[in-house]
Amino acid sequence: MRTDTEQTIFLRDYEPTPYRIVSVDLDFRITEEMTRVRAQLTIEPREETAPGTPLVLDGDGISLHSIAIDGAPLVLAAYAADETGLTVVEPPYRRFVLDTEVLLKPETNSKLMGLYRSSGTWCTQCEPEGFRRITYYLDRPDILAPFKVRITAPQSVAPVLLSNGNLIEQGAAGDGMHYVVWEDPFPKPAYLFALVAGDLGVIKDSFTTMSGREVELGIYCSHGKENECLYAMDSLKRSMAWDEKRFGREYDLDVFNIVAVSDFNFGAMENKGLNIFNDKLVFASPETASDANYASIERVIAHEYFHNWTGNRITCRDWFQLCLKEGLTVYRDQEFSSDERSRPVQRIHDVENLRVSQFPEDGGPLAHPPRPDRYREINNFYTTTVYQKGAEVVRMLATILGEDGFRKGMDLYFEHHDGDATTIEAFLKVFEEANGVDLGQFSRWYTEAGTPEVTVSEDYDAASQTYRLTLTQKTNPTPNQPEKAPFVIPVRFGLLGPNGSEMSWSAVSGGTVHDDLIILDKESVTISFEGIANKPVPSLFRGFSAPVRLNSGLGEDNLLFLARHDADPFNRWDALQSVSTHLLADAAQGRPWHADNIEALRQALLDTLDDAHLDDAFKAQAIGIPDETVIGRHIGRDIDPDSIARVRKEFITALVGPMDSKLEALFASLAITDAYSPGAGQAGRRALRTALLSLLVAGSGRGAALAERLYANAGNMTERSAALAISARNWTRDAPALLGDFRARYSGDALVFDKWLVASAQAGDDGVIERMRTILAAPDFPRTNPNRLRSLLGSFVMNNPAQFLKEDGSGFRFICEAVTEIDKVNPQVAARILTGFRVLPMLEERRRVAARAALESLRSQDGLSRNTQDILQRILAG
Ligand code: TRP
Ligand code: ZN
Repeated sequence: MRTDTEQTIFLRDYEPTPYRIVSVDLDFRITEEMTRVRAQLTIEPREETAPGTPLVLDGDGISLHSIAIDGAPLVLAAYAADETGLTVVEPPYRRFVLDTEVLLKPETNSKLMGLYRSSGTWCTQCEPEGFRRITYYLDRPDILAPFKVRITAPQSVAPVLLSNGNLIEQGAAGDGMHYVVWEDPFPKPAYLFALVAGDLGVIKDSFTTMSGREVELGIYCSHGKENECLYAMDSLKRSMAWDEKRFGREYDLDVFNIVAVSDFNFGAMENKGLNIFNDKLVFASPETASDANYASIERVIAHEYFHNWTGNRITCRDWFQLCLKEGLTVYRDQEFSSDERSRPVQRIHDVENLRVSQFPEDGGPLAHPPRPDRYREINNFYTTTVYQKGAEVVRMLATILGEDGFRKGMDLYFEHHDGDATTIEAFLKVFEEANGVDLGQFSRWYTEAGTPEVTVSEDYDAASQTYRLTLTQKTNPTPNQPEKAPFVIPVRFGLLGPNGSEMSWSAVSGGTVHDDLIILDKESVTISFEGIANKPVPSLFRGFSAPVRLNSGLGEDNLLFLARHDADPFNRWDALQSVSTHLLADAAQGRPWHADNIEALRQALLDTLDDAHLDDAFKAQAIGIPDETVIGRHIGRDIDPDSIARVRKEFITALVGPMDSKLEALFASLAITDAYSPGAGQAGRRALRTALLSLLVAGSGRGAALAERLYANAGNMTERSAALAISARNWTRDAPALLGDFRARYSGDALVFDKWLVASAQAGDDGVIERMRTILAAPDFPRTNPNRLRSLLGSFVMNNPAQFLKEDGSGFRFICEAVTEIDKVNPQVAARILTGFRVLPMLEERRRVAARAALESLRSQDGLSRNTQDILQRILAG
């Protein structure tokens, strides 16, 4: 098989190229039939390069039409072109211009990497290795050059012609053609190149920067969608203002453009001055987008904008350093959302996401460090570990150094590395320098995979008024990393006295403690607190100060005490989650709960709902029951998803039954009569209503009808799609009719259709796979569109464990068959769907065997992409 011999790329093999690219001149001639790309690359050997060293350029799926150096065509023997690139055998030993021409067929590019067409619009995606599908190049992020781009295209089909930087020239080009020239003065790696050509609508606005420069802002979209771009524009302006205020970062070009396209492999892309977005992260109206969609738009607009400094001005030396830009930029967008909305709610949201997706990745066969040291296919490393855990690592740095120390380090980073393609080591070094600290051991967070587990034991001696707290860390082996050394774990904490208030101590010894922060940097530390008059209840990892799993050893009583009294809202939420998770995991393993346990939890939930000091969005999260994936990860092995689903249902029924009329009354009282606004206030209230409805539908006979009525009377998409999703998931009597109605009602809107696909894929009945087969087989199903495929198949593998992990293997076979087909069209999307199989090693045996059989049969197919082979091989090896 090809995979086993396929080359693995190692971080330790990094070497600079023998040649550098001084400047880039591109000339695109676009017609309906094809696109001709002429590249004039000014190239020179590095000082240390020996004369006669071949120049090896990357190329992928392109063919060479002509080649010349300094105007003179090359003879056949002077170069060689194959599927992986172009070699110039003996380039001049001086600065020279390499002139190549290639012909592209964007129309047939279904991988959506390089230049492709989406609904008639020509657009590009170059990160990480798409530029080589446009022209021959040193396609790696440490090659930085200024770009000048000429685009010529038919005026009628492509009146809008965009690229990076500033527009410096435009005019007619005869024969119904016109042209533009864009120039980007900032040297950039090729992965940040972008081009868009099409017939698009636009909204324009402007932003005045902190130094008083006027920046012209544009958001381009298909005609008629302009009004749905207004929220994105508002988010952009708020992002620009926030980055000035919080990080002192000002925008640098005179233009900032965003283009929304319908076919896109990811969320969005931070191309210099020309961000390209998946349209689901731009378009919003109350009738078509949910509150969660609005929040994602705001977050991703900010994320891509923030990359201008963390990613573009300072970029990555190589793709192993991906989290240098991604982890840091996610941290920045999380902070932005926290400042714009509610900080505790944002934190809970981010941690929930980490637990649902990153923890399972980190505990399974696809585990890798935020900075991996090897890969076969870089596209498979745009993961939740690189992004979300990468952000947690930056957050820990901020926690350890404090806000000022962190800001000092960031300032130094921008000062020292502007214009660089750099590394994680360089990033850590500026924080060491700015703060006079040693981050050697801390850097393990970047190089080691796995979620540490921290176990707590306590001891209180009333006679000496001494409280001793012992924290012990342990991390299980991960692929290629059998042995784990201790991490530096920041533990933000407090001790709660009997009345729930914060205790102070007269002296502390035995470890590193600064105010409310313990640094756990050995396998185990024991801290002694003196002057403690009563046995306290410890509140640990406040604000989720480190990405670990905590065994607090606290029983239900103490957890509910924290839920009631903790000054830290995150830990109040987490205490309730822990109670439920423990009860559910125990019951799924045959140790059922006691009625008292449920009664106490119910009372705590009611108290939370009654608490006038808590906001609705927080309450919504507080009353949520951990989902099946979180319970499964907690159990950790021999998982039986049927028993988890059954127990969860029984649990909610027992919990909700005695309080259902109260919940229903609250649900009714929270109805909103004002006009829709996506702001945090209304959104929080709707979130609470949705959370109440979830409990009622899953746990009480009264729920189904409420959901049906909410669906019918909904005044906005948030309510209607929530009612639909909850009904489908619980497969209520009305679910089939609601699905039918929703489909018919919104047949014209692709993004709303996605909500129908998600609801269909997450349905809780046994007919789900059959229905999905029918949906996929329909002749008009858009089987090349990533959003449609991910909505149906991605949400099935990730969010419908009971059906995907079916004992008879039907879920596994269904997905493997679908992946076989998708892989031929778009390998990135296929590989991503396949990662759902990462739970394989944790399943009980029959399911493990069935999953393995389905994967082996997929593996025996001919012509699988490297993307899919890589995921298959890693999962099957685990
Ligand atoms: N850099 C992009 C982001 O984080 C990620 C991205 C966009 C991407 N498009 C891609 C990654 C295509 C891989 C392939 O916002
Ligand atoms: Zn990013």
